[in-house]
Amino acid sequence: CGGGGEKKAADSKPVEGGGEKQKDAIVIKFSHVTSADSVKGKAAQKFADLAAEKTGGKVKVEVYPSSQLYGDKEELDALVSGNVQMIAPSVTKMVKLDPRWQYVDMPFLFKDRKHSLKFFQSDLAKQLLNGEQLVGNDIMGLAFWENGFKQFTNNKKPLKTPADFKGLKFRAQAGKVLEGQFKALDAGSATIPFGDTYAALQQGTVDGQENTYNNMDTQKYQEVQKYMTVSNHGRLDYAIFVNKPFWDGMPEDVRTKVEEALKEATEYEWKLAAEDNDKSYENLKNSGKMQITELTDAERAELEKALQPVYEEFKSVITPELIDGIKNLK
Ligand code: LMR
Repeated sequence: CGGGGEKKAADSKPVEGGGEKQKDAIVIKFSHVTSADSVKGKAAQKFADLAAEKTGGKVKVEVYPSSQLYGDKEELDALVSGNVQMIAPSVTKMVKLDPRWQYVDMPFLFKDRKHSLKFFQSDLAKQLLNGEQLVGNDIMGLAFWENGFKQFTNNKKPLKTPADFKGLKFRAQAGKVLEGQFKALDAGSATIPFGDTYAALQQGTVDGQENTYNNMDTQKYQEVQKYMTVSNHGRLDYAIFVNKPFWDGMPEDVRTKVEEALKEATEYEWKLAAEDNDKSYENLKNSGKMQITELTDAERAELEKALQPVYEEFKSVITPELIDGIKNLK
């Protein structure tokens, strides 16, 4: 795999409307799959603005939302080969390189949002960002970004008990753990890229899906899904990954400024994720288009119990160090 990112930056075209100073701007192409008005989209734009401001225009971050440039299937390869310099996938999609990233899908592993933020700042998180499978492929992680807890939706019936899931088919993001989660509920699943999910729900290719309030709201899933169950059974979070030869090849003073921009954008993102997910919950509710089932504590406990086989099957792959380490952070 190559490190063409550095070359790309040097070859990049002058910034449109930019002055002499911006002619040789270092271009960071930042590709992602959610919409520009999603939590990730807004934070990516904030990072772009901060990077331009802090480097006096020496760095231009070009944000490509909505799978415009690359979708789920291609964006990681595009980063490895240096066709883009930065991506921010939902971490489960890193399963292609390192199965441990599926920690995020382990049912009921994170007790609350604070627990997740604590993990982002832990040594365990740093080890994942610098994992040898990543570095061996010319990429590395720089920071974690939050989205939130996932909820189930479907078109067939309100889901209250584990038995209600039987025979339904759900869209999944990636990986064996999510497949195992649905299997434990006697349900089927299909991995479908985020960019194709609305159509798959609309056409009935799958009956349901699981996602955060903000992803559902900004994708308008309320138009194509009748029932939502508030279960908070798993997380959807992001990490920022860069092409390493590109990153290491940036002049050090410039890279320091970009790192500052990313740090500020990350602080902004952590705040925004919680706020926007709350707003999106209200939007979904007020749409009047989805019937919402809020699970009681006892119903959540029943779901947690039904999902225990996922731990038996996958704890060794994700590694006991990581799973127990996360549990012990609380
Ligand atoms: C999904 O595929 O549902 C999410 O990973 C999309 C995203 O990037 O939030």
